[in-house]
Amino acid sequence: MNLAVLGFGNVARALARLLHQQRGAHPFRINAIHTRHGTACNVSGLSTDPEFGPPAASLEEVLERAKAQVLVELTTLNPENGEPALTHIPTALRRGLHVVTANKGPVACAYHGLRDEARRHNVRFLHEAVTMDGTPVYNMVRQCLPAATVTGFAGALNSTTKVILEAMARGHSFEEGIAQARALGVAEGDPWFDIEGWDSACKAAALANVWMDARTTPAQVDRKGIRQLTPEKLAEAAAKGKRIVLVSRARRTAQGVKLRVRAEVLDRDDVLASMHGTSNLLVLETDLMGQFGVFTLNPGPEQTAYGVFADLMEIARNS
Ligand SMILES: NC(=O)c1ccc[n+]([C@@H]2O[C@H](COP(=O)([O-])OP(=O)(O)OC[C@H]3O[C@@H](n4cnc5c(N)ncnc54)[C@H](OP(=O)(O)O)[C@@H]3O)[C@@H](O)[C@H]2O)c1
Repeated sequence: MNLAVLGFGNVARALARLLHQQRGAHPFRINAIHTRHGTACNVSGLSTDPEFGPPAASLEEVLERAKAQVLVELTTLNPENGEPALTHIPTALRRGLHVVTANKGPVACAYHGLRDEARRHNVRFLHEAVTMDGTPVYNMVRQCLPAATVTGFAGALNSTTKVILEAMARGHSFEEGIAQARALGVAEGDPWFDIEGWDSACKAAALANVWMDARTTPAQVDRKGIRQLTPEKLAEAAAKGKRIVLVSRARRTAQGVKLRVRAEVLDRDDVLASMHGTSNLLVLETDLMGQFGVFTLNPGPEQTAYGVFADLMEIARNS
């Protein structure tokens, strides 16, 4: 199966390595990689460290040259409008290509339009890796919960804030917490996106759009980050046997689906307080299966690449 990959950062490089390692058993071939800085293309397949020429003039040109059957969209996230993925994905769907992405933006900002566009063209739009890296959540609900409906969820889904809050609970400053998150490789150069709760809002919006027909965007999530917290507040909570965690919650009300991101003071034995360091956890509420959870321990680009690979396998199985 011929792939065109957009972006060649941490996740795309990990995916290239994974596909190379699996090439004997699963013949996916990356024929093109396109970034703003350059394009690499070879219809016989690229190496894991290809040479890039100047950037192609358009995505259409990349897809054409690659004879691509699947677009793998791994560009940078913009939480406010989902671009550039929100332009890339419909372009590929309209040309009859399947699309797989790890980019939260399009699922959080415009899921239903993309899903419907994929259906119109009889192709798949899959996004397993957007919320919990490679840990199965979307595929798990679709494939393993027949006839059940997700009625709500709560998740400790952001690694950076967890690392910062744990550092402050040990008496370190906010800035030292950020430095520790950077040292672990989870915080961006500018970590405002995590600290202000945007990442948690994007993940909540994506889950609620797919599972609860929320038709929402990250900007519509009732969101407050962790900037107001201090080591003193964290110590006060710890002295009472509590832990502060940034939590994303969704519940259905008579007015529609309500999404909220807040630093919550939790009992230490609350399951949402049980994850440490960069690990994440999601508890689902369903009508037929009650409450249950999934967690991911110390996620990294390799797990995210596996989420993309799982989607590619799903497409290959049904093509
Ligand atoms: N890292 C993780 O473990 C993880 C986990 C879950 C989800 N994700 C999501 O997966 C996506 C990729 O993450 P990453 O860590 O690999 O990001 P990254 O290392 O920052 O790489 C992003 C890539 O996107 C390219 N890019 C940006 N704008 C582009 C455009 N308009 N056209 C073509 N290429 C463009 C960049 O290249 P140029 O600058 O040359 O254009 C770069 O190669 C992001 O949306 C991220 O939120 C990542």
